[in-house]
Amino acid sequence: VFSHVVRGPEDPILGVTVAYNKDPSPVKLNLGVGAYRTEEGKPLVLNVVRKAEQLLVNDRSRVKEYLPITGLAEFNKLSAKLMFGANCPAIQENRVTTVQCLSGTGSLRVGAEFLAKHHHQRTIYIPQPTWGNHPKIFTLAGLSVKTYRYYDPATRGLNFQGLVEDLNSAPSGAIVLLHACAHNPTGVDPTFQQWEQIRKLMRSKGLMPFFDSAYQGFASGSLDADAQPVRMFVADGGELLLAQSYAKNMGLYGERIGALSIVCKTADVAGRVESQLKLVIRPMYSNPPIHGASIVAAILKDRDLYNEWTIELKAMADRIISMRQKLFEALHARGTPGDWSHIVKQIGMFTFTGLNTKQVAFMTKEYHIYMTSDGRISMAGLSSKTVPHLADAMHAAVKR
Ligand code: LMR
Repeated sequence: VFSHVVRGPEDPILGVTVAYNKDPSPVKLNLGVGAYRTEEGKPLVLNVVRKAEQLLVNDRSRVKEYLPITGLAEFNKLSAKLMFGANCPAIQENRVTTVQCLSGTGSLRVGAEFLAKHHHQRTIYIPQPTWGNHPKIFTLAGLSVKTYRYYDPATRGLNFQGLVEDLNSAPSGAIVLLHACAHNPTGVDPTFQQWEQIRKLMRSKGLMPFFDSAYQGFASGSLDADAQPVRMFVADGGELLLAQSYAKNMGLYGERIGALSIVCKTADVAGRVESQLKLVIRPMYSNPPIHGASIVAAILKDRDLYNEWTIELKAMADRIISMRQKLFEALHARGTPGDWSHIVKQIGMFTFTGLNTKQVAFMTKEYHIYMTSDGRISMAGLSSKTVPHLADAMHAAVKR
């Protein structure tokens, strides 16, 4: 009965790892998926995560019962506080509902399903370009997806004018997906001043912000500084949605731990919204897993563990910044044609190199370097040892 089923394509990001795993070359390099690697090229489990896990193992009172549909209450509270700030009036007034979800993707999907059911305007505007999974998540949830201009290939920076024009012509009430910081794939963020303009424009048009926060702490190295754009939108008293992921900033990729928050106008509305989120979640996966949420909660609630986390997070962010500098210098030393200053200017995990699909295919075939076909490089996958190999490949690709 399934003989008519055609083979689906590999995922444009996770499929890069599939191809990488099949390559027997000893010099192969995976710069596709945004996953942090050490200088030795190894995945990293943060010390603070190991400590938190030890605490959990030693606590004999812990059981494996189901969590509520909304997840671990303590984790939800701490997650909202991490992004919105300890003194956030919306939290104090109980206007925020937070539910534990399956990392960033799960949070976006639950939020999108809720919007498709309960928001009067079912169109979502996503930046052009954006993370490849965004359009699929929103379309499958029943939203209609449109794009707004974001990146200017000529300047390799923000197309602010295009962004403002496109949001200006969006219908009132439309949803707008915003990357909270460290935009994926471009590494280009608005300045705080531009964020303020975006906020004013969106509020005046009644556009609904849906923030995707996958990199808090990775853009500037400071959790609070990276939360500023979201906090600006909360401070004006308006509504918003927020998807948070702990995959990158706590290195909890496979634990699939994240949260969806919806900031409402009143506590009463927030309570009703939460009741509807439960109706979205229960038939989807019933209730979320316990382990990742327990790790995050253990770290966020303990001052010493929290401080230790911020230090380890900053170290990851700093190593990525040093890789940017090294790659830039290596291309400069080779006299590679072009202006590569965007490598050091862009922020977060990725560099949007400007290399085209053909150049990427050449680098994969000849140099065994794996990256997404849009020319995005995960800087977190580089090390001092592998920078020269990448620079050689980029140089050869550009000179062809
Ligand atoms: C990425 O963009 O590489 C990450 O967000 C991982 C993923 O799930 O695509």
